[in-house]
Amino acid sequence: MKQMPQQLIIAMTGASGAAYGLRLIERLAAQQMRLHLLFSDAARIVLQQETALSLPDEPAEQVAILARHLDIDAAGLHAYALRDWFSPAASGSARIRHMVIAPCSMGTLARIAHGMSDNLIERAADVQIKERGQLIVVPRETPLSAIHLENMLTLSRMGADIIPAMPGYYHRPQRIEELIDFIVDRIIDHLNADNPEAARWGA
Ligand SMILES: Cc1cc2nc3c(=O)[nH]c(=O)nc-3n(C[C@H](O)[C@H](O)[C@H](O)COP(=O)(O)O)c2cc1C
Repeated sequence: MKQMPQQLIIAMTGASGAAYGLRLIERLAAQQMRLHLLFSDAARIVLQQETALSLPDEPAEQVAILARHLDIDAAGLHAYALRDWFSPAASGSARIRHMVIAPCSMGTLARIAHGMSDNLIERAADVQIKERGQLIVVPRETPLSAIHLENMLTLSRMGADIIPAMPGYYHRPQRIEELIDFIVDRIIDHLNADNPEAARWGA
């Protein structure tokens, strides 16, 4: 039986679907999990475009703004600059064994699939793969090219969970929030975290 994580890395990159990452942070913060947060530069542009949330460069300010925006406790949130190679996410010895990238851009997906490790998001994902930790990737693009599909296959073969931002409609959603939670529920289930709120087939 997989253990529920006490801490994990959540990275947001520059794919559309910032709401998935924000909602995941909100739901896991409510479980008193320690969350290590990483935002690519493009993620901050997309956040501004899709949610009007403006995240600055400085990690401590990112935490304060995010906690206020989501109305969650800042105590369990830790953000890091993308070149902070001294942060726990950068090394297997910190023993963080779970990471979610939501949403995941095709650029970040490609760089991880090819071991580039050029920023802290790519390095942290590389660490999860080499340490055989859990890497959950939530890609978003359409249509998908053969490059995108091959990169997803590469990561899947390395043990990553690919959970595309592709909600189902069989629960007859009425609101966008229900579509977002559809994906966030699948991520939380794959983390083996508590998820009593999840709508379940056959329940
Ligand atoms: C509003 C907006 C939406 C975007 N949507 C996507 C998307 O859905 N998927 C994707 O792969 N890239 C998307 N992009 C492009 C990426 O942000 C861009 O390729 C960027 O270099 C990714 O950088 P990152 O992987 O470091 O976050 C979008 C960009 C903007 C500004």
